[in-house]
Amino acid sequence: MKLQQDIDLAPYNSFGVSVRAARYAEITSEQDAAELFADNGVAEGKWLALGDGCNVLFTKDYDGTIVRVTDYAIDIESEDSESVTIRVGGGVEWDDMVEWCVEHNLWGIENLSLIPGTVGASPVQNIGAYGAEAADTIVSVEIWDTVEGRARSLAAEECHFGYRESVFKHEFKGRALVLAVRFRLSKEANPRLDYGDVRAKVEALGGATLRNIRQAVVEIRRSKLPDHKVIGNAGSFFKNPVVETSVAERIKAEWPEAPIYPTAEEGKVKLAAGWLIDKCGWKGRALGRAGVHDRQALVLVNLGGASAEEVITLANTIREDVASKFGVEISPEVNII
Ligand code: EPU
Repeated sequence: MKLQQDIDLAPYNSFGVSVRAARYAEITSEQDAAELFADNGVAEGKWLALGDGCNVLFTKDYDGTIVRVTDYAIDIESEDSESVTIRVGGGVEWDDMVEWCVEHNLWGIENLSLIPGTVGASPVQNIGAYGAEAADTIVSVEIWDTVEGRARSLAAEECHFGYRESVFKHEFKGRALVLAVRFRLSKEANPRLDYGDVRAKVEALGGATLRNIRQAVVEIRRSKLPDHKVIGNAGSFFKNPVVETSVAERIKAEWPEAPIYPTAEEGKVKLAAGWLIDKCGWKGRALGRAGVHDRQALVLVNLGGASAEEVITLANTIREDVASKFGVEISPEVNII
């Protein structure tokens, strides 16, 4: 276990916001977790799990312990004629796991190529892209339960996965530290090409192989989304809003081109927040040193030295504009701390 005091969090969040954390811990195992949380220095509610910090916006110094899991193992646990179950340490880079699966000819997460962040963070917001989400392949999540003071495994059903949602954002928020995740991948080809430009790109690359799908998704993402190592950002800043069908119909009457996606909920559809923000004229604009990405309006960027306050001001101004133009509330997808 590694412990530090009073550190700058700028290298640990993809927005590149500079705030300080009172304590910082890296743990690799269940034993480390037991030791860390038995230590009186980690008071109840005064710790925060951080993966690569790709989905957070720190607004002030953090007066607690930042905990990072540094288990980097990928192990095959079981296998049958159709599938392989793997256990992946929380510290593994998500995209390294995607590459590992593609190399091993395993299907299920190729559409999630190049999503930044760690495997440990993947179940928390149920990362998703191009018609797939982490929950499609998660079997269980190994956590350190700080209330019960023990490691335990939560089955996928207990995680209540939804669109960018899980139990880890609600009942288990501040309680569960994700140590590792189990995934079941398929040995059989199961290409999902129906989202946006994926099919066309895959066909141009020569057909629906795992490698081509990964390549197509990588190219699409690179063309739209900024690399946080070059320009600070946390991916989609807002969630796509889920609205009553009547709201979507009202918008469609005026803007027939408005993108609309189905949801599992009856009478509800999902609108594209990026389109709404773009239509309000925000794409490529800035307030102070915080801006809206010029190729994807859903992404707010740090143009260089932006404070969290500047990002929040920009986000609030955008929310107000979208509400007054479309009568639709959009809410942050990023965890604001
Ligand atoms: N659009 C615009 N202007 C924009 C942005 C989008 O008109 O500036 C339109 C697009 O043309 C398209 C629609 O809005 O018709 C949706 O855009 P896109 O396919 O780029 O996806 P998204 O809804 O903006 C979501 C996820 C992304 C994920 C993509 C692909 C959320 C909040 N975001 O974005 O996830 O990569 O779909 O599946 O659901 C993330 O969560 O950080 C993230 C990047």
